Amino acid sequence: MTALHDRHIKPLILAGLNGDNWHLKDYVSRGGYKQLARILKENIAPEQVIADVKESGLRGRGGAGFPTGLKWSFMPRQFPGQKYLVCNSDEGEPGTFKDRDIMRYNPHALIEGMAIAAYAMGITIGYNYIHGEIFETYQRFEIALEQARAARFLGHKILGSNFSFELHAHHGYGAYICGEETALLESLEGKKGQPRFKPPFPASFGLYGKPTTINNTETFAAVPFLLTVGPKKYLEMGKPNNGGTKIFSVSGDVEHPGNYEIPLGTSFSELLKLAGGMRGGKKIKAVIPGGSSAPVVPGDLMMQTTMDYDSLAKVGSMLGSGAVIVMNETRCMVRSLLRLSYFYFEESCGQCTPCREGTGWLWRVVNRIEHGQGCLEDLDLLNSLAQNIMGHTICALGDAAAMPVRGMLKHYWEEFSYHVEHKQCLVCAH
Ligand SMILES: Cc1cc2nc3c(=O)[nH]c(=O)nc-3n(C[C@H](O)[C@H](O)[C@H](O)COP(=O)(O)O)c2cc1C
Repeated sequence: MTALHDRHIKPLILAGLNGDNWHLKDYVSRGGYKQLARILKENIAPEQVIADVKESGLRGRGGAGFPTGLKWSFMPRQFPGQKYLVCNSDEGEPGTFKDRDIMRYNPHALIEGMAIAAYAMGITIGYNYIHGEIFETYQRFEIALEQARAARFLGHKILGSNFSFELHAHHGYGAYICGEETALLESLEGKKGQPRFKPPFPASFGLYGKPTTINNTETFAAVPFLLTVGPKKYLEMGKPNNGGTKIFSVSGDVEHPGNYEIPLGTSFSELLKLAGGMRGGKKIKAVIPGGSSAPVVPGDLMMQTTMDYDSLAKVGSMLGSGAVIVMNETRCMVRSLLRLSYFYFEESCGQCTPCREGTGWLWRVVNRIEHGQGCLEDLDLLNSLAQNIMGHTICALGDAAAMPVRGMLKHYWEEFSYHVEHKQCLVCAH
């Protein structure tokens, strides 16, 4: 786990973690489960909990940044049958490695956040869908669940109240598509993980056809902390419309790759400093600021940008899952795009024609440019392919494959055309 290089920046979810203090007793000694206990003891109205989450400005940390309190208010509380709460710990976006660290080093924050969410929405059963390729994390989360059950923070009549909530861990199958919320639900039901048509949305037709709320691991884990500091203060830690702190998984050409939790609105240059700066003192060339599906941003532009939803949208990219991939001046953009496009080709579930066929086309065209067999028309072909995939698929995997292509061509056209004309790499040639 990354040691937090805490200067004036105060983390919440990662505060005080040293790698070993993940047990229930450690979490309780850090003030954990106090919010759940307070809500139950004082009989706080569920509507009040949702109002607090709304006021805090917390937005989904899984990618789309949807306001969490608003999503919770969509749950039909009075629905007579079973309702479900699901945590999306599938974390398959290249560059993203924060959710596994939350489950490994602060699993009780997630459990408490889910229990509070379940109380707010009148839900009695929850599942945490954990990415299939991470075994140790899954095992640790199971132990944390046992600890929480034994201490009566989970189960029947929690802490002697009338509220009951049972939470189960589910080990997924390691497919990127299972992170898409409706594919996740299909997979959780034991079916092939393929996205569903929407509407209906999970709030009305979710797991086993019942009302379901799905949030990302970090979204749930933030809830006890936003209630501890107070929703107004939490909002003010970030900036308007971008409340609170966010964990960024920084990787690539930096001295200290790792997870850094900073207030939203912190400058990228500060985040880069926390990660030890550019490795070997090399010049920054480009940054993918929100996971592999976020369009690339040139380094000089990033150095003037702050890390929040609105600012990253203004520079033509997105905050996404918060995976920040930093590239130095020696990185070839054609090769980088080749790697990315292969991932989406490999991970397309094959359900929609534009995605199934289009991701393969994208990869083959970038592949021939990289290997000196491309022509200049290929650059327009790439743009047109991306255009034809975007918005024409059941889920956003198609968009995720197309956006990096458009971003790379927008900013590094010259590098792609050099590859075509000289049959070699512009970066390597200089
Ligand atoms: C192809 C694809 C993969 C996704 N993978 C993840 C993932 O690994 N984790 C996640 O939380 N959200 C992922 N999402 C977004 C989810 O569909 C969903 O929006 C999110 O879990 C909602 O939680 P939030 O509101 O807390 O962000 C993915 C979306 C797509 C289209």
